[in-house]
Amino acid sequence: MDDRAIGIFDSGLGGLTALRAIREELPDENIIYFGDTARMPYGARPAGMLRRMARQDLDFVAARGVKCILAACGTVSSTAPDVLASYPVRTFNVLEPTVREAARCADGPIGVIATAASIRSGAFQRGIERLCPGAEVVAVACPDFVPLIERGRVDPEDPALKAAVEEYLAPIRSRAAHSLVLGCTHYGLVAEAIRRFLGEDVKLVEASRCAARALAAYLRENDLCGGKGEESFLTSGDAEDFRALSTVFLGRAPRGEVCHVPAMEV
Ligand code: DGL
Repeated sequence: MDDRAIGIFDSGLGGLTALRAIREELPDENIIYFGDTARMPYGARPAGMLRRMARQDLDFVAARGVKCILAACGTVSSTAPDVLASYPVRTFNVLEPTVREAARCADGPIGVIATAASIRSGAFQRGIERLCPGAEVVAVACPDFVPLIERGRVDPEDPALKAAVEEYLAPIRSRAAHSLVLGCTHYGLVAEAIRRFLGEDVKLVEASRCAARALAAYLRENDLCGGKGEESFLTSGDAEDFRALSTVFLGRAPRGEVCHVPAMEV
């Protein structure tokens, strides 16, 4: 048993989808969440910069004395997997468990949506093709999703969101994908808008959920569970804005303080 917190970081609110999924699996864990809102969106940045930021985010979270760290960010997971893997604290990424789940349920063309940096890295596509040789993979970058989500525009009928969904997902629908990987943790927050456009039959493979299950299984198998269900939140953006939107996204108020921290220089 280990009652130190689980550390989670993302560029903003998206990683809350992973926090929520971890809570479903392990309600008693203590969690420290860092949303690097001031430097969002990560997906528009070049790979070299993202790798430096990944290291900074890991150091920032590790300094809080956590037992493990989830990079709840598809962009970091796909551009800096080696930075995560070689870190002295046990880390989890959202790439590997998501790719495994996509391969497990593959029964036709597979769509992948993620940030521009993630799609450019080719990591999701390569991972799926390795596990499912010959699979048809349709990968699309969706740069407008994260800024919309961070402004709270997640209502499936929101006109700007609907327009973005229609534009980005048109190639996925026209190739009749059977499943769709949500390779950015923010995208779980617009899953309903995506479902309305693609139809209920398309299976959504959410990076956050896959990563949460993998992390929970590891803690259980290694007898590392423990805590009192405490939460604390750190954001490099505005703490009040973060608190207000996190309440919407978690479906409840955050259980602990939300504190502003200065943005790190890249
Ligand atoms: N939520 C992150 C991801 O999974 C980052 C999105 C962004 O800031 O562009 O890719």
